[in-house]
Amino acid sequence: METVQQTRRTFITTLIALPLALAGIWRFLTPKALKKPALLRVAPHEIPVGGALVFRQERIAIMREGTDYRALSLVCTHLGCTVSVLPEGMICPCHGSRFDRQGAVLSGPAERPLERLQVEVSGDELVVRG
Ligand code: FES
Repeated sequence: METVQQTRRTFITTLIALPLALAGIWRFLTPKALKKPALLRVAPHEIPVGGALVFRQERIAIMREGTDYRALSLVCTHLGCTVSVLPEGMICPCHGSRFDRQGAVLSGPAERPLERLQVEVSGDELVVRG
């Protein structure tokens, strides 16, 4: 009888401890989510309200609507040309794809929107990550 209770107790303990141990091992062995590298750092006041700041070499535009900031890759999703930023939206000089200020396709041949990049406020600067 003693052995049966001990076996049952061992079984229940194992049933509780095993998942916890596996979760701990899983957490230890899997890499933590890597933070994307910073592509740009810019002071928010440099971006005009309702406008955009274009970083031609990095092929990134940062738009500002009030206190909201949005960063878009200027790499055209059709064949990779650099998209030009105009007051009314964006246009690709290679084959004429048009995008709105959110990066959505207005007319092709591009079928996918411009890539939206991560923007975070870090102290007194915006950090664009991609
Ligand atoms: S590369 Fe932009 S439309 Fe073709």
